[in-house]
Amino acid sequence: MGDDEASTSASPQPHKPAPPPGAAGSVKQHISSLVASSLRATAPQVDDVQPMVEVCAQNFGDYQCNNAMGLWPRVQGSPGTSFRNPNAIGQAIAENLPACDAIESTSVAGPGFVNIVLSNTWIAKRIQDMLVNGIKTWAPIVPVKRVVLDFSSPNIAKEMHVGHLRSTIIGETLARILQFLNVYVLRRNHVGDWGTQFGMLIEFLFEKFPNWEELGSQAIGDLQLFYKASKERFDNDEEFKVRAQQAVVRLQGGGEKYRTAWKRICQISRNEFDEVYKLLDVQLEEKGESFYNPYIPQVLEELSNQGLIEESKGARVIFIEGHKSPLIVVKTDGGYNYASTDLAALWYRLNVEKAEWIIYVTDVGQQQHFDMIFKAAKMAGWLPDPNEKKFPKTSHVGFGLVLGADGKRFRTRSTEVVRLRDLLDEAKSRSKSVLVELLDKKGKQYNCGFLFAFLITFQVKYEVRFCSGKLVDWTDEELDKTSKELGYGAVKYADLKNNRLTNYTFSFDQMLSVKGNTAVYLQYAHARICSIIGKSNMDVEDLKMNASISLGHPDERALGLHLIRFSEAVEEACNELLPSVLCDYLYNLSEMFTRFYTSCQVVGSEEEPSRVLLCEATGIVMRQIFQFLGITPVYKL
Ligand code: ARG
Repeated sequence: MGDDEASTSASPQPHKPAPPPGAAGSVKQHISSLVASSLRATAPQVDDVQPMVEVCAQNFGDYQCNNAMGLWPRVQGSPGTSFRNPNAIGQAIAENLPACDAIESTSVAGPGFVNIVLSNTWIAKRIQDMLVNGIKTWAPIVPVKRVVLDFSSPNIAKEMHVGHLRSTIIGETLARILQFLNVYVLRRNHVGDWGTQFGMLIEFLFEKFPNWEELGSQAIGDLQLFYKASKERFDNDEEFKVRAQQAVVRLQGGGEKYRTAWKRICQISRNEFDEVYKLLDVQLEEKGESFYNPYIPQVLEELSNQGLIEESKGARVIFIEGHKSPLIVVKTDGGYNYASTDLAALWYRLNVEKAEWIIYVTDVGQQQHFDMIFKAAKMAGWLPDPNEKKFPKTSHVGFGLVLGADGKRFRTRSTEVVRLRDLLDEAKSRSKSVLVELLDKKGKQYNCGFLFAFLITFQVKYEVRFCSGKLVDWTDEELDKTSKELGYGAVKYADLKNNRLTNYTFSFDQMLSVKGNTAVYLQYAHARICSIIGKSNMDVEDLKMNASISLGHPDERALGLHLIRFSEAVEEACNELLPSVLCDYLYNLSEMFTRFYTSCQVVGSEEEPSRVLLCEATGIVMRQIFQFLGITPVYKL
C-alpha cells in the first residue's frame, strides 16, 4: 500500500516551484520578509539578524517585531549610528518597513516592540485569493522535500493496542500535513516481524498442526491466543525451548520451511492490521524489521571501523554520552536486536531512501532508545550536530499513555488490552445513538417521507453549490455512514487534540459530546455553516469571482484574521510535530465563527455577499483541517 516503488528510487518527485515572496507562505513569513528588509536598512552593519516576528501578545496590533532590544547592544556606539536607545531602533524598524498594502499602521511600545496592524483590505484580499485559487496557496513554505515517517509499527502476532492506535493516528496526521506542504512522504510501517519469538511460534505451529501447509491460515485461528499458548509452552518446557531456539537459527539461516511458516504467520497479522488501517483510512508501506536485517552486518562493520563499537560483558556495544548503559548492538548470543535493526534502518533511510528528515512516532517510553540511536548516528557522522539545524535530521515524536476512567492504563474489563476493531465498532454504535438523539431533538426523523421530499429539493440546490453536497435523506445507510464518520472522527480528534506528550483519558461520553472541544461539536459547527450557505440564494462560485469581502464589524475582522492565520497553525504543527496545534486552531475558528454569526446577520443582510464568502472560507479551512486529522466532514446534522 501507499508509496509506489518510485519512492525509493532516486527519481525526483514533482514539487511546486517556490512561489514569489508574498504570494504564498504564511502571514508571519510575509511580515518577516518585510521586517528583514527593514532590518537591512535600519542596521546595515549587522548582517546576521533574523527577523523576530510573532503574533501580538496584547491588543496593540496583529503582529509584533521584537528585534530592537537584541539589536541595541550590537549597534550601540558603532560609527554612524545615532540611536540613543532600543525604542529609537524600534521607531527606525517601523519607518523602514517597505511600503506595502499589507500593513495598515504601526506603533512602537516600550523598549522598541513594533506593533503591526494589518490592513483590512489586505486580509480580505488574501481570503479572496484563497477562495479563487484554492487553499493550497496558503501552504507555508518548508525547507524539506523528502521525509521518512515511521509510524504505527505494531508487532506481528501481538495485539495492535491503543498505543499503536495513537502512533497510527498521529503519524497519519503528520503525513497529511507534510504532503499538503508538498513534501514527499515515505510512510513506513516498521512492524516487529523479526526476533526470537518467531522460533517459538514456528515450532508451536509445527507441533500443533503437522499438516499446517495444507491448512492455510485456518490452522492458527486467533493469532493472539496462539501466541499465548506457544509462550506458555516455551516457558514451561525446556525441550520445547531448545527446539524453538534452533528454529530461530534455521529461520535466520534461510531454511525454506521456516521462512514459509514465518511468512504465513506474518500474513495473518498483516490482514488484521490492514483491516484497522482501512477503517481509519490510513496509508502505510510495510518495511518491517526483517527488511533491514541484511544491512545490519555492513552497518555494524562501518561503525566498528570507526572505532565506535566495543566489547562489554560479552556483548558488542556503543557507549553514548549522557547515557549510563551503552547501546547493545550485538547480544551476548551473537544475535542482533531492536537497536541494531534501527541503526540499519536509519542508515538505509539516509543513504538509499535519501530522506532529509526521519520522524519516528512511538510512545515516550522509547525516547531514550531513539536518543541513543540518533547520538550514535551523529558519532558516526551520518547526522550533523542538531544545534546546527542542518539536514538531514531525525525527530522522535513521543506520546503519552491512553488511560481508562480509573486513571490506569486503558484496558477492557477482562484486563486484556483493548482490541482496536472492537473499540472502533463501539465508537460507531455509540455515535449512532448520539446522532439519533440529536435528530430527535431537532424534531427530525429519519426515513420520513415528507422530510425526504424536502431534503431532495434542498439537495439539488446544495449540490450545485458544493459539488460535494451530500444531503440525502437519513436512510439507514446514511445514518450508518454518518455514525461511522462521527464515531471514528471522535476517536481521532480526542487523541489529536491533546498535546501528544501528555496522557489522556479515553472516554466515549466525552468524545461524543455535542458540547465542548469535540469532533462532534466541530462537525456540527461545520454542518451549520453549510446550512447557512444553503439558505442564501447567492451563487457562491459567482460571488468568489465578482463580490468582495469587507471586514467592517470587529467580529468579521477577527474571523478574517484568524482565517489567514491558518498557514501559521500548519507551519507550527509541522515544525513542532504537534497535531494539537491544528485542533486548537480549528476549535478557535469555530468559536470565532459563532461570534461572527451571532453579531452579524448573513442571509438577507446588505453584506450578504461578503458574509457568505466568509462562511465559505471558514468551511474550506475547516474541511482542510478535518482532512489533516483524518475526519470526514459531515454536511448535514
Ligand atoms: N514495533 C515497535 C513497538 O511496537 C515500534 C517500532 C517503531 N519504529 C522503529 N523504527 N523502532 O514498540
